[in-house]
Amino acid sequence: MKKITVKDILSKKSGGEKIAMVTAYDAIFARLADAAGADMILVGDSVGNTVLGFENTVPVTVDMMLHHAGAVARANTGALVVADLPFATAALPVAELVQLCARFMREAGVQAVKIEGGAKIAGKVAALTEAGIPVVGHIGLQPQQVFKLGGYRSFGKTEEETASLVEDAKALEEAGTFCIVLEAVKHGVAREITTSLRRAASIGIGSGPGCDGQVLVLTDILGLSAAAPKFAKRYVDGAKILGGALSAYVSEVKGGIFPPKES
Ligand code: KIV
Repeated sequence: MKKITVKDILSKKSGGEKIAMVTAYDAIFARLADAAGADMILVGDSVGNTVLGFENTVPVTVDMMLHHAGAVARANTGALVVADLPFATAALPVAELVQLCARFMREAGVQAVKIEGGAKIAGKVAALTEAGIPVVGHIGLQPQQVFKLGGYRSFGKTEEETASLVEDAKALEEAGTFCIVLEAVKHGVAREITTSLRRAASIGIGSGPGCDGQVLVLTDILGLSAAAPKFAKRYVDGAKILGGALSAYVSEVKGGIFPPKES
């Protein structure tokens, strides 16, 4: 099956076709997201708080990300798989950063990387794209900055913050990113950024309907998150349905119902 390419995503942006991205962290859910027709699967470092039991994304390492990204890429057939670069990797010297991203493409088999940060890292993003590494930007709320921010909040509330978001998006687009994730950005500001982007697609999360596409965290969609953000939509109460199946299994084993008696 032909995989969605960077060119396809750019065409969707220019043709006004909405783009659907979802996170996945293993082969089981990558297969489901792929079969559902997701354009892009993001192996987010949200694996830390959704799957690995950490409080936030900061403890997630390169090795963890390679492990999960590999599982997703092996199961996927049609989507464009993007791996998140974990905490503080954007601060690596540019040559090291290029080699790290090359590992994600070579060893894990992903087609692109995502990096948190704006205008300040645009030079590094340009070096990555020049090396042939497709890059997704990520501005607004950057969860890896949780300790600096003292928590999670929305962005674009002041004129100054809005101007700096617009500047970040422009610098990332000029550096060659093909998508920019806008997280927790005020809806009007996200719309303004989306209109200002000539080539790159904006992918919103908690940033309203004015973006070129949307991304949601898998466990929020499936009702498997301990606590989901208010903007997320739960499409199924997975904890109830899957928990019910597990309870039925446990009680059947304890009650001698499963496996059935042999005659
Ligand atoms: O790690 C992640 O899942 C993300 C999304 C929230 C965009 O960065």
